This record gives sequence, structure tokens and C-alpha cells, in this order.
Amino acid sequence: MEIVKTINHLRTEIGRWRAAGETVALVPTMGALHAGHIALVGAALTAADRVVVSIFINPTQFAPHEDLARYPRDEAGDLAKLAGAGAHAVWIPPVSEIYPDGFATRIVPEGAALPLEGEFRPHHFSGVATVVCKLLAAATPHVALFGEKDFQQLAVIRQMVRDLTLPVTIQGVPTAREDDGLALSSRNAYLSEDERYIAPMLYKAIQEVARGRSPAEAAEALLTVGFSRVDYLEVRDAETLAPFNPDSGRPGRVLAAAWLGNTRLIDNVAV
Ligand code: PAF
Repeated sequence: MEIVKTINHLRTEIGRWRAAGETVALVPTMGALHAGHIALVGAALTAADRVVVSIFINPTQFAPHEDLARYPRDEAGDLAKLAGAGAHAVWIPPVSEIYPDGFATRIVPEGAALPLEGEFRPHHFSGVATVVCKLLAAATPHVALFGEKDFQQLAVIRQMVRDLTLPVTIQGVPTAREDDGLALSSRNAYLSEDERYIAPMLYKAIQEVARGRSPAEAAEALLTVGFSRVDYLEVRDAETLAPFNPDSGRPGRVLAAAWLGNTRLIDNVAV
């Protein structure tokens, strides 16, 4: 497994593969890898001949009061997991490679980026779209894979790729879960023992809404079992993230974000 830092080195490796007629998949991550990321690598190995995983904790998608400083980091562990999973290259750019001095251009997505996370984390998707666009431009993959755990992020990336006519296929991969239903997330490491016990209730609540329970009642039930706040728990159009119209014949999605102490959990399920 090749470990690369610079865009030049990355392009040399990928150029060699492309020249040999091989297809390339990119799995963008922020590290602290868990079984959900490894499932993305597995899907990428099926989708393309060569798999590159990027590890970059993107500062522009965190607000000043968010958890950038304490975001979990485990480069040695990540590299061991990726070697075991069969990735061909890992790209770990320094911040200066992605945001060099004088960097002054941002993508500001609207549409699917505006509701839900967009209301509670107003600059988040601009940071995500900008960095993903840069990662795609540097790696020029045939396919890029993202987890459905961050369902709105996936919708925003699909929208950006369509709107900017980027030559890449975006593939979503179903959420990996613990046995009790909790969606795998690097941020689960923040949960205390008691919070970890309560956390799977979020998945139960959105499943109940998918089966017809009122979102307001489900949100109230989360507060009763120990969640400290529910940012949103709503049914939305699965592509545009606009309010869901059950008569539209279009797929819907239940999406939620809720706090357990200082930890914010998100999850979603299909209607
Ligand atoms: O989902 C993530 O880990 C990040 O938002 C991503 C897509 C790697 C962009 O920084």
C-alpha cells in the first residue's frame, strides 16, 4: 500500500494506473476509521481496479465552537486497517497541500444543503463541498464512495457533481451499525457508558417514524429516554431534502440529529 502526501505524488501513482487502463475509486475520509469506512473500501474494491483512501481532517467544515481540536486521530491504526482491507494507496495531505497560502475560493451549495444540517451548521456543507471538489480534482477517480450515514452530505455531493458536471460517479454505501442498531461513527468514541446505552434509541425512533409514528412524538420520546436536545427529526424527500410529500411517489428519508450530553449524533433511514 502506497502512502502519499502531495498532489503531485498522488497524480503520478493514479496516472500510472490510468495509463494501464485501470479504473480508480476514491474513498474520502477524515480518519479514525471504523468498520463503516472499511465497508466503503470493500465496496470500492468491487467498483474499481484501484482504491485510494484519503485521510484529511478538513478544518473548513468545522465551526469555531465545534470539535476540530478533539476530533479522534489514529494514523497508525488507520494505516493498519487500510492495509488489511486491501486499499492500494492512502493519501494523507497536510493542510497546506489542500489550503495553500492565498487560498480564496469556496463552493457554496444551496438546494439540498440548506435545510436540517444546513440550519444548525450553516458553513458545514460549504466546507465539505469545497474539500470534496478538491479531492476529486486531485485524484480524478472514476468513482467516489460515501456512507449513507451522512445522508444529507451524500445528497449535497451528488448535487454538486451534477451541477458542476464533474466526471465522476458518486456511490452511496449503506450505514454500518453496531448489533444494537447504533450507526458507526468516529464520534461514538465521545460517548460515556450511560450515553452509549441510550444512543441506539435514536435509530429506534427514526425507524418508528418510517413506519408512521409522528416525528414530534418520536422526538419527545428521545428527550424522555435521556437525549438532551433534538435538533431535528423529520421526513424529507430523499434526493432534494425538501419536505416530503407522500403523494409524490418519490422516495422519502427520515433524518435526525440529537444530542446526548456534549455529543451530537445523526442518523437516517428510508421511508
Ligand atoms: O464524511 C466525511 O468524513 C467528510 O465529511 C468528508 C466527506 C471526508 C469530507 O471532509
